Amino acid sequence: MGRQIKFEIFRYNPQKKGDIPRMQTYSLDETPNMTLFIALNRLREEQDPSLVFDFCCRAGICGACAMVINGRPGLACQTKTKDQPGHIILHPLPVYKLIGDLSVDTGVWFRTMYEKTESWIHTRKVFDPTAEEERMDNAIAEDIYELERCIECGCCVSACGTARLRDDFMGAAALNRVARFVVDPRDERTDREYYEVIGSDEGIFGCMGLLACEDVCPKGLPLQNQLGFLRRKMGITALKDIFKKK
Ligand code: SF4
Ligand code: SF4
Ligand code: FES
Repeated sequence: MGRQIKFEIFRYNPQKKGDIPRMQTYSLDETPNMTLFIALNRLREEQDPSLVFDFCCRAGICGACAMVINGRPGLACQTKTKDQPGHIILHPLPVYKLIGDLSVDTGVWFRTMYEKTESWIHTRKVFDPTAEEERMDNAIAEDIYELERCIECGCCVSACGTARLRDDFMGAAALNRVARFVVDPRDERTDREYYEVIGSDEGIFGCMGLLACEDVCPKGLPLQNQLGFLRRKMGITALKDIFKKK
């Protein structure tokens, strides 16, 4: 017979008048290869239909199931209960707006940050629908695809000390997205123009460089390299400005 797992789950419905944030305890028998996705669905089906949490793909692709698992942000569908102690504590991701229990709204946050970082190709070229697809060097295309693997789960932002302190901080995910456009030869922005977007404490200079973001990223994105790359690039741009003014 498998373990009996104790779950302690954050409960709060901000839409329900008078509801009070609290932790609720459940117990479940562990089955082979049980993930938190399976466990939470069983808890909802068998014990408490009011439990709120998000899932979509069950395969580590949509990013919807991110939550704080025993103190660490991670994907519930990719977390096996056998790798956790017999007492599992679940909280919703901090930083994002709480919808209810373990469900948060990451979409509004990502949209706001992508607008703020102008996450689209900036070019003066006029779009020609009849033109052939532009060729790109294979190595550059691979670099871009590597950074595009972000599933917008929000784990990196939830683990980030700066994002917890200030809600205008762009966070590793949005800065990683800026790096994706910096390496893209189709984007014609200059370093000075990127500086206008991320050269502040809301952007790259707010990053304390302790790299909790990379530690928790479920897709293993090279956030450390990208943050270092942007910090160097924006630092050099600032120095050039200072010397120009002298
Ligand atoms: S390295 Fe920067 S972005 Fe990453 S967690 Fe630390 S402060 Fe946040
Ligand atoms: S960078 Fe990683 S942790 Fe952050 S949102 Fe993207 S996939 Fe999630
Ligand atoms: S349900 Fe899609 S990443 Fe977990």
